[in-house]
Amino acid sequence: IEKFLSPQDFKGKKILITAGPTVEPIDPVRNITNKSSGKMGYEIAKEFALRGAEVILISGPTNLKPSPLIKEIINITTAEEMLEAAKDKYENMNIIIMTAAVSDFKVKNASKQKIKKDKDSITLELIKNPDILKTIGKIKKENQLLVGFAAETNNLIEYAKKKLKEKNCDLIIANDVSKAETGFNVDYNEVYILNKLGDVTHVEKNTKKNIAINIADYISKLINS
Ligand code: CTP
Ligand code: CA
Repeated sequence: IEKFLSPQDFKGKKILITAGPTVEPIDPVRNITNKSSGKMGYEIAKEFALRGAEVILISGPTNLKPSPLIKEIINITTAEEMLEAAKDKYENMNIIIMTAAVSDFKVKNASKQKIKKDKDSITLELIKNPDILKTIGKIKKENQLLVGFAAETNNLIEYAKKKLKEKNCDLIIANDVSKAETGFNVDYNEVYILNKLGDVTHVEKNTKKNIAINIADYISKLINS
């Protein structure tokens, strides 16, 4: 029913979306991860699918049920796995939207056996994970629209502008994750959409579903202008 009520302005478009956290092992029973429910990414994936797009969703572990309208769902755990899946799929895509909260670091030598608590302190060495958005930004084709997110606690617009440039994105969607009511694991968000011309569009506090609609409307106007 919902699909019949939605405009089909993304019919024929192929869209790749990353969502959720990545989870990096410390040992077989412990992980490090990022705060992310995956809600924003799943709402975006659903909205584009409702509007006729062929959506591929690459997701880290979440408790969410993806919309049945999504064409393909690839479940991954680590950032390395998310990167492999993204590299595998990006080529045929018209639009790539990276909402995932990727763990910036992973444990250097994850233990194959459970680490026992027999010492009073232990040190984990963390090494940088690959930057998936930046990697795709380097290899993407001219006609592909690349959209990143920026999660910041301070200097939101300044840092988001920097990410737009450094990761070769067409758009960055910035959100302030220091606010409890629009941050993690809640149904609300408030974002700023930045483009390459330097325009900043404020999307006022709203449900993540309505934020997803606003983002889709913005992208629809952009690709049809
Ligand atoms: N991202 C990614 N791969 C990473 C880190 C981030 O693809 N290893 C993507 C996110 O999905 C998001 C964008 O890059 O679309 C920005 O993520 P964010 O964590 O805000 O920025 P970072 O570049 O990781 O920088 P920092 O965390 O230091 O602010
Ligand atoms: Ca990060």
